Amino acid sequence: MRTQVAIIGSGPAGLLLGQLLREAGVESVILERKSRDHVLSRIRAGVLEQGTVALLDKVGASARLHREGLPHDGFELMFGGQRHRIDLHRLTGGGRVTVYGQTEVTRDLMELREAQGAPSVFEAEDVALHDFDGSRPFVTYREQNLEKRLDCDFIAGCDGFHGVARASIPEAAIRSFERIYPFGWLGILADVPPVSHELIYAGGERGFALCSMRSQTRSRYYVQCGLDQRVEDWSDQHFWDELRLRLDPASAAALQTGPSIEKSIAPLRSFVAEPMRFGRLFLAGDAAHIVPPTGAKGLNLAAGDVHYLAEALAEAVVEQSCAGLDAYSQKALARVWKAERFSWWLTSLMHHFPETGAFERRMQQAEFDYLIGSEHAMAALAENYVGLPY
Ligand code: FAD
Ligand code: PHB
Repeated sequence: MRTQVAIIGSGPAGLLLGQLLREAGVESVILERKSRDHVLSRIRAGVLEQGTVALLDKVGASARLHREGLPHDGFELMFGGQRHRIDLHRLTGGGRVTVYGQTEVTRDLMELREAQGAPSVFEAEDVALHDFDGSRPFVTYREQNLEKRLDCDFIAGCDGFHGVARASIPEAAIRSFERIYPFGWLGILADVPPVSHELIYAGGERGFALCSMRSQTRSRYYVQCGLDQRVEDWSDQHFWDELRLRLDPASAAALQTGPSIEKSIAPLRSFVAEPMRFGRLFLAGDAAHIVPPTGAKGLNLAAGDVHYLAEALAEAVVEQSCAGLDAYSQKALARVWKAERFSWWLTSLMHHFPETGAFERRMQQAEFDYLIGSEHAMAALAENYVGLPY
């Protein structure tokens, strides 16, 4: 088989890249290690920046998002019992975010790709990347026990943090930067109405909690937990009791509970690999960088990367110019590092760090007090939350 761009990974980065390339007249094949159902069952991000929505509009994958997604003009921040609304709309001159699950974004993009008859291989085993340092790269994999080969002009590594693409680059050619946080997030999904119509980010002595949602009838809640905790340690009752203790009395009283339909623990990490290009291999999304989920930036960064990458690949394939490809890594990383900073800052402000003492906790309280008392500080938070421009 031959194609112009071999895309490794059928997550949001790979699927959106495939559609953006198609819009530009460039062919692609997606190779995905897991089954279609498995990819569609992963519960992850929930908040889309305006730029991400605009990209989904551009490729014609946003009809359901505009019907079912929830536009949010603000969110609530809580610290040490004080609650304050961040008015995204006012602070950014009309900005907002859309609450729409990553699972739904993935489904919409996958269905669009299928309707167009564009090729994707699911359950592709032992994907291996070859000769991307030369001019004729190819990818080998196994499909239903048959060895296959995909020849291509370029490879896009959209295969997430644990994928094969970044791991294929010689160690000496890549530099990574990492911070592992001493806690994780325990997340629960339940068919109960959200406690509030806007998200609540709550910090305090017992640790961070987040009240989010997927619809008017489905809630997504998180509590910060220790790295030694396992999902089995948390009954639904234990989760709801702990969440209530981390909220203000009015929210705790209003919280509706019910059986969980999903429960999982995610560790928190900041990570960047530089550069995002090696020869004809280009990294995008979680394959190149990870942010802690506090700023809701991961999926949105993946969308930003593939926006730059699709433009650069189209320029190379259609106009035979390498200028865009040469600039890709630098352009993408400039935006990535700003989102890394924002996610690290919001994580540091809102979480309980087990190793820190009374002084650091007072610093968090002082930073929160400053933030909610300063229009400029709130505007900086709001402009990052709705998404920096591409
Ligand atoms: P992925 O979604 O990881 O997709 C990679 C794909 O590659 C997968 O399908 C994988 O199976 C496949 N793959 C892996 N290895 C191989 C291989 N060897 N061969 C072939 N295929 C392979 N982000 C936000 O923007 N907003 C949020 O609100 C938010 N909340 C989050 C909450 C949680 C609890 C978590 C865990 C994450 C959250 N994120 C959020 C982050 C977001 O989910 C990720 O940043 C996003 O999934 C990145 O997309 P991606 O396509 O780069 O990678
Ligand atoms: C979610 O709804 O899953 C979500 C929302 C906001 C975040 C992280 C996750 O910052």
